[in-house]
Amino acid sequence: MTSASIAVVAGDGIGQEVMPAAIRCVDAVTAHYDVSLDWREYDWGSDFYRRTGAMMPVDGIDQLSKHDAIFLGAVGTPDIPDTETLWGLLIPIRREFQQYVNLRPARTLPGLTPVLRADQPIDMVIVRENNEGEYSEIGGRYARGTEAEAAIQEAVFTRTGITRVARFAADLAVTRRGSLTSATKSNGIVHTMPFWDEVVAGVVDEVAADHPGLTLRNVLVDALAAALVLRPWDFDVIVASNLLGDILSDLASAITGSIGVAPSANLNPPRRYPSMFEPVHGSAPDIAGQGIANPIGQIWSGALMLDHLGQPRAAAHLVAAFEQALADGVRTRDLGGTAGTEEFVTAVLANID
Ligand code: NAI
Ligand code: MG
Repeated sequence: MTSASIAVVAGDGIGQEVMPAAIRCVDAVTAHYDVSLDWREYDWGSDFYRRTGAMMPVDGIDQLSKHDAIFLGAVGTPDIPDTETLWGLLIPIRREFQQYVNLRPARTLPGLTPVLRADQPIDMVIVRENNEGEYSEIGGRYARGTEAEAAIQEAVFTRTGITRVARFAADLAVTRRGSLTSATKSNGIVHTMPFWDEVVAGVVDEVAADHPGLTLRNVLVDALAAALVLRPWDFDVIVASNLLGDILSDLASAITGSIGVAPSANLNPPRRYPSMFEPVHGSAPDIAGQGIANPIGQIWSGALMLDHLGQPRAAAHLVAAFEQALADGVRTRDLGGTAGTEEFVTAVLANID
């Protein structure tokens, strides 16, 4: 029996609802396999901030580093700025643990009415650079409150950073349909984006030397956004910088049905540090506390975690269980149904056994 130690940070808003729902489903599925997860809960987030002035303790990263993986709900609350909540918990974890790949699958799910044309099934993965790029702390504001006020924010792109994420995306494409798309904006952003294009092309050339089926398309992100709406089934793996990947992955998840279903993995591929698994959605303060949140994003993130922990069969079993619930017509309101979180989880648990 393999056992893995998981740090659980349910966090804010609907994180408190979808996390227990997902843990029940993951436990139900692992009972059928040779693995057990040892959950350790941390009460970090906005309430912790209100009590202590910080989103997590000063040694929070140290505490998390002792676990095999981190399972996160969502952070963010209307009365505290996102610069405090997201930058006090989520972003430090991604950076300190060098989770430089943010993997975001988006695909057609059974029984969902597609928002857009669905001539063919959609099955893509967005590989978002997660440590650098446009999300940098370099810059500042000056002459605050005057006519001369200005803000500057520098984007940071490094050869190491681009190479490692491009490598991951190219290797992933080789295991799928062999088609890699790189999101760029080298016509407008004239220093960092041409550099991104060059390094990505170099990496793909190297990988393609051993895997001649691999192809690379560089697509300007504005045209790519339009193509995702018009022909989403054309895309297999999309690699993108931090900001472009963030936007494209919300778009991709909305195209397949709802942001409530979208999972993500923040991966440290060398496995030197724990990786973190969390839904793409946020804390949804508009529906928090009502028991109506869609738990699929959190459950599917749990499946990505099982896969990462070397349990691909348990992961596939869990995905099949929520897909069957959807196929049977059990749907939460964001998907046009009437089920609450609990009713949906009950259906998933029944399908697991
Ligand atoms: P959001 O994803 O929380 O909500 C956007 C819309 O989608 C809302 O109408 C919400 O009700 C709906 N929605 C989201 N998840 C759902 C689910 N599971 N089931 C049913 N409906 C769902 O994004 P929003 O409103 O922009 O952000 C709210 C807070 O969350 C902010 O403080 C934001 O910074 C934070 N946030 C945190 C993230 C994280 O922890 N990784 C990611 C995105 C936002
Ligand atoms: Mg986002």
